[in-house]
Order: sequence, then C-alpha cells, then structure tokens
Amino acid sequence: MVQFSGVPVIVLKEGTERRQGRNAQKNNIAASIAVAEAIRTTLGPKGMDKMLVDSLGDVTITNDGATILDEIDVQHPAAKMMIEIAKTQDIRVGDGTTTSVIIGGSLLKSAQELIDQSVHPTIILRGYRKALIKSKDILKKIAEKVDSSDKKILKQAAITAMNSKSIVGVREPFAEIAVKSILQIVDLRGDLKIIDIDQIQIIKKEGGSLSDTELINGIIIDKEIVHPMMPKSLKNVKIALIDTPLEIEKTEFDAEIKIQSPDQITRFLEEEENMLKRKVSAIINSGAKAIFCQKGIDDKAQSLLARENIIAIRRVKRSDMEKLSRATKAKIITNLVELTLEDLGASGLVEEKKVGTDNMIFISECSDPKAVSILIRGGLEHVVDEAERTLNDALCVVRNIVHNPYILGGGGSSEIELSKQLRDFATTIGGREQLAIEAYAYSLEVVPTTLAENAGLDPVDLLVELRAKHDTPDGKAMGVNIQTGKPSNMIEEGVIEPLVILMQAIQSATEVSSMILKIDDVIAASGGMKAGAGGPQMPPDMD
Ligand SMILES: Nc1ncnc2c1ncn2[C@@H]1O[C@H](COP(=O)(O)OP(=O)(O)O)[C@@H](O)[C@H]1O
Ligand SMILES: [Mg+2]
Repeated sequence: MVQFSGVPVIVLKEGTERRQGRNAQKNNIAASIAVAEAIRTTLGPKGMDKMLVDSLGDVTITNDGATILDEIDVQHPAAKMMIEIAKTQDIRVGDGTTTSVIIGGSLLKSAQELIDQSVHPTIILRGYRKALIKSKDILKKIAEKVDSSDKKILKQAAITAMNSKSIVGVREPFAEIAVKSILQIVDLRGDLKIIDIDQIQIIKKEGGSLSDTELINGIIIDKEIVHPMMPKSLKNVKIALIDTPLEIEKTEFDAEIKIQSPDQITRFLEEEENMLKRKVSAIINSGAKAIFCQKGIDDKAQSLLARENIIAIRRVKRSDMEKLSRATKAKIITNLVELTLEDLGASGLVEEKKVGTDNMIFISECSDPKAVSILIRGGLEHVVDEAERTLNDALCVVRNIVHNPYILGGGGSSEIELSKQLRDFATTIGGREQLAIEAYAYSLEVVPTTLAENAGLDPVDLLVELRAKHDTPDGKAMGVNIQTGKPSNMIEEGVIEPLVILMQAIQSATEVSSMILKIDDVIAASGGMKAGAGGPQMPPDMD
C-alpha cells in the first residue's frame, strides 16, 4: 500500500505476503544457509550419506549433493536458488556440487556478518564480484598443466571424485572403466576435442556384485531374441532397424468389410498374411541377419525369420534404436518394401548372453568404434543406482581434464591457497570493499574446514597448520590428509581435481549469493511462500 496525495493506493492483491528490507534479506540468507548446512555433512571421503524418502515411500541413499537437493522438497524461494547452484554445477562440470553449495552458504554467512556491521550490501556485492574475477586468475596460476592422455593422472582424478562415494573396493576398476570409455569416445575435430558423455550407454542390472561391472565395446539391449529357433549368436552381421510392426495389421475399428462367401474370408485372411510375408521377404532379401524392431513381431513373422536363421528383437526402445543406428550406421526404416542393403548397418558380433537371471543382447565390434557401454552390476537397487551416479561423476571429471588439461590439488588445498592469495590482493584494494574481499577469502576455507570436521578432526588446529604450510614455498598443494589428520601434499597423494570444478563452483556460488543479497523485497502471491516445488517462485531481483 502506498500513499499518494494522502490517498492510500492498494497495489497488491489481498492475501499477498510481503517482506521488505533487512527483514527480507535476513530471511533469505538464513534459508539459503540452511540448505548449505543440510548437505555439509556429506562433503568428502568421510562424509555421510543421506537417506531420502519420497512421497511414494521410495528410498534413495546417496552422497551426491545435486541428487539430495533435487529430491528434497524445498519451499523457500531463496533456498530454491541455492539448489540451482548444485544443478548448474552438475550440468556444467558434473562434480563439485556439494562444494559449490557450501561455498555459496559460506559467502552468505560472511555477508550477513558484514551487514550486521553496517556494511551496505552494494559494497559487499562489489567486493564479491572483484574477488571472483581475481580468484579465477589466481586459480589459473595455481593449476598445473597435465598431459590429457596420461592415464595415471586421469585415473587419480576419477578416484578422487569417487572417494566420497560409498562404492567400497571398486574405485580402481571403476576409474579404469571411466578413463577407457572417455578416451574411446573423444572425437577430434582439428584442435577441438568433442566428448559427448551421453554416447556412453550405461545399463544397470541388479544381481552379481559391483566388481562384475564391465566396459563393453558396443551396445547392450535389455531384451531377448524373440524365437527359440533363432541363432543365439552371429558373426559379421548385417543389421536392420525397423520402426514399423511386423504383425498382421488389424483393421481399423470403423472399417467395414462386406463378406458374402466363406471363400472371401479365406482370401481376405490370405491377403493379410501375404502382406506380412512381403514385409518379411523384404527383410530376408535385403541381406539383414539381425533385425531390431521398435514395435511388435508376431508369431508368424517370427517363425518365418527363424527359418532363415535371422535374429530378431522386438519392442526396442526408441533411444536404443538411435544408439544402435549410431553404432552400426544402420538407418531406421519405416517402409520395409524399400529396404535395401544401403539401409543396413553392420556389427562384428550379435549375441544373446545371460546377465544374472535375464538375457540381454550384446552388439559388439560395431562400425563405429566409439560405441561403448558400461554394464553396472550390484546386489541391490540402491547400490546400482549410487554406482551409476558415482560413475557419472568419474566420467565427467575425466572428460573435464581431457577437455581442459589443468588440475588442482584436492583436499581443500586449492581453497586455502586461493584464500591466502586473495587476502593479499584485498590489502591492495583498501576501504570497505577490502573487508568484503577478505570475507570472501575466509569463506572459501569452509571447504577444508568441513572436510576436517567430517573426518572427525579438529578443524581449527588443522586450519592453522595448513595456513602456515601455505606460507612456505611449495606449500600450495598442502591439504587435509584425512587419514593422518595432518597437512599433506595433495598432488603427491594423488588427490587431484580438474581446474574447471572449482572455477565453476566459485562462479555459481558467487552469482547466486549475490542474487540473494540483492533482494530487499519479497512479494509473494497468496500461498506462494508455502507452495511446493511446482508453486510460484520469486523472481530474482536484478538491476
Ligand atoms: N583422499 C582425499 N583426501 C582429502 N580430501 C579428499 C580426498 N578425496 C576427495 N577429497 C575431497 O572431497 C571433496 C569432494 O567431496 P564430495 O563429497 O565429492 O563433494 P562434491 O559434491 O563437492 O564433489 C573435494 O574437496 C575433494 O578434494
Ligand atoms: Mg564429488
């Protein structure tokens, strides 16, 4: 409500909730910090897992920041923005989600302290922006260039990413799989390396143990051969991909057929069968020896194909059809009559194998050598699911280094070094902005502190020791050794991370915390503040 020449003007609808000024800010900051606090205990190798139960009672057990935040139903609009940090981090670089959110929380906590000391948010924002720009320069200088084809380095980074996940005893083989599959799909276009992780097919099958997880050069389809008389395996196979049914087509509901004699019925049925036969003959004549059909294949067609020793698989998912098409170079055909040799793809081996209790089809030695699949095995659904998330982090980390061959030490070492150099930079700025840049620098130490805390170590003592180490020459890689509780050289320990992870983490943490700091007015439609995930969201207040 505003006063205009003494007349009150009602701008907002009845029931609208409004929070303004300090109050709005404080509330937003508190909610955002709460999100960061919620996942703090999951950070690092000694971090704990969260058990999430959705409204249907389905349970997810995970350590993955992005997954946790995605599953919990956060209502506060500012808290939702924190979740965006994790999502952005996950999409852009695939790891470092918890790190990014807790840095975001820490930046806001420090900002609140400054606000309490009467530093205006605009000054904090300016300081944070300067700090971010400087941080990126510093990180680029701290980072070490590596050889992106050095498998040892890639494996170490993959293992570091998997250290915090509860896949006990299989980090080595998983790292090996991640490195091999990424190196296999790298597409060199001049100097540019294109790596599309989606090209790696991940298939999960409960049963067996995680150590049975394997890398397969080719595609796996979770289906069976349709007919028992068909061969179980064929070598050097021409492959047809069909997205039309191999079935006698049912007449439409409203079609009317007038039949006057039993003769006509026989002829009608024969004609139907002939149509199907013509389709099957087209396949046989094309030279295809294995067909993958997106739709159904009826008994008649099955036995006709089996007689020709052709392997047939039906009801293949569209996404699998596309993968098959890419791997075997076969075209997906709708009109069978026009099927020619040119439409067919090729594979060195198509076979049905038993995985656990089910049969699966393996299409290997494909025309496209970049077709790779990972078959994840594990005793329980939860285990297999978390293994997939873990592998995904490892794949992203390896991809990041192959893309951009720079690494940083993990275990909080890079955050401490960055913090130190940023504090030196702050002194050159002076004034209140210096306070903000210093606050930014100290906020970054939340990473080593939390790693230590989660490992049951005394974070204060350790931080003092670490800072002292960073003041010595060659101290930049000193981080938290969670085994000994003492500072260690993380790069020598093999605890390394792609540069882009921390770069992206500070980027999105700074952006979102700045956005939250800038809001001084929250106007929510009636019920908006209480709405669930799908409810209205407060738009960020941009300038
Ligand atoms: N062996 C280790 N010793 C110390 N820190 C480690 C080790 N392995 C991983 N870390 C650290 O754990 C942190 C990542 O933890 P994680 O739970 O995966 O969070 P995020 O979601 O941010 O990736 C990083 O700071 C990384 O350097
Ligand atoms: Mg991680």
